[in-house]
Amino acid sequence: MPPAKVTTKQLDRLRKLAARAMKHAHAPYSKFRVGAAILTAKGETFVGCNVENASYGMTNCAERTAIFSAVAKSGPKLDIRAVAVINDHGIASSPCGACRQVIYEFGPDAVVYYPTAKGWKQSHITELLPEGFRFE
Ligand code: THU
Repeated sequence: MPPAKVTTKQLDRLRKLAARAMKHAHAPYSKFRVGAAILTAKGETFVGCNVENASYGMTNCAERTAIFSAVAKSGPKLDIRAVAVINDHGIASSPCGACRQVIYEFGPDAVVYYPTAKGWKQSHITELLPEGFRFE
């Protein structure tokens, strides 16, 4: 069940947006398409997909694409309430360490929804990233 601050309707919408964005992934190397959607405190949503590169290390994950796109569109006063991430293999996949740190930067109280072997799971960002880094 979603926590009080994210309604079932909002969560359904986030998952749908993430699934739609996943189709835009550029993943010719891993063949693992990922989509992400974020919900902000203002109720705005932004999406992202993974964008790979022949120089593998240049790859950008779906979660970071969504967040960077949000900053580019609406500025850095971004307050992420929720993140949903999905992949086209239907396998367990929570955000990678780099994405956790970026989610934490803009959403220290964000809830992250991701698929596991037992279905969708929700975790607070600080469960996924204890002792996240910030200049405070
Ligand atoms: N990937 C994401 O987009 N998000 C994650 O949280 C984990 C991994 C992407 C990166 C790469 O394009 C592919 O999945 C395989 O690692």
